[in-house]
Amino acid sequence: MKNPLTASSSPLTESPERIERCAKAGFGSAILKTASPYHRAQAGYGRKVVFIGEDYFADASFQREILTEEEGLTLYRKAQAHKGDMLLIPSVSASSLEAADWLGICRKFQAMGAKLLQLDFFYLGSVICGQNEDFYLDLEQLLSRLRQELDCLIMPKLNFGLDPELACRALAKAKIRQVSLLDSIRFPLPARFGLHPETTSYFGPKQLPLTLLYLQHAVNYELEVCAGGGIAKAADADLLLENGAKLVQTASYVLKNGFSKAPLLLHKEPVPMESHRRTWCDARHYEAEGCERCGFCLGVPK
Ligand SMILES: Cc1cc2nc3c(=O)[nH]c(=O)nc-3n(C[C@H](O)[C@H](O)[C@H](O)COP(=O)(O)O)c2cc1C
Repeated sequence: MKNPLTASSSPLTESPERIERCAKAGFGSAILKTASPYHRAQAGYGRKVVFIGEDYFADASFQREILTEEEGLTLYRKAQAHKGDMLLIPSVSASSLEAADWLGICRKFQAMGAKLLQLDFFYLGSVICGQNEDFYLDLEQLLSRLRQELDCLIMPKLNFGLDPELACRALAKAKIRQVSLLDSIRFPLPARFGLHPETTSYFGPKQLPLTLLYLQHAVNYELEVCAGGGIAKAADADLLLENGAKLVQTASYVLKNGFSKAPLLLHKEPVPMESHRRTWCDARHYEAEGCERCGFCLGVPK
């Protein structure tokens, strides 16, 4: 990778056009929007985002937020032509700790040339695990099995539902070398914002102390860390790198400030780039039909 700046799995990386903008903005790598092997039976409600100052809240049902396997593979294939010199890292998720549920989709991305896969544990961490020690034994077994069965590297993504010490220990015991930090926090907003309390997440600067905590545990286990969650300025990225991160990842900073400002995180000049609305979005208003509700138009100053 030409530099440590990574686009997080998020609206930044959910279409080939946005992958192209990540490349133009100078990112060294991009983690694709998560895909999971499931059938979209009932789509549920789509994404809605709210900015309050530096804080970013997003709400969406699983089936509208997570790509199907087919969509994820198509995105990876199409993104090849737009990625420039970035490393593309597919992100996969499954809803159990059974290796069979993960292996199929991992093998498909591997067969398409992926060298590194992010394993997104968000829905496991927040739904299944709790703080049960047996969970971490099962997690270790899953990761050992995936490591043995796959040729590509696997990089689990931790979240606040997972205990930092127990999770990092399970990774180290399974001989996993890479880890991705850190997913959002569940955070209900008052009813007047119109978001569903059980599926609303917070993204932004308040996460940074927690990211540092998880980073410390990961570094203690000699894991190579792609660290993010709460980066709001270059000094935050520096702090994570100084504390042992190999790569830094960002999502909501770019949603708020636009792709052109991403180089500032590496102390580089902004890259002139057309705004979101004029380039890929046909929707005239955030709530209009055809709007993907990525949140770019809410964050980028007009
Ligand atoms: C709208 C939205 C969707 C996201 N979807 C995913 C996802 O599919 N998979 C994933 O691993 N992380 C996802 N994330 C989390 C980001 O990758 C990242 O961990 C989080 O935004 C914290 O970083 P930040 O403070 O730089 O925003 C999403 C974030 C946002 C804002």
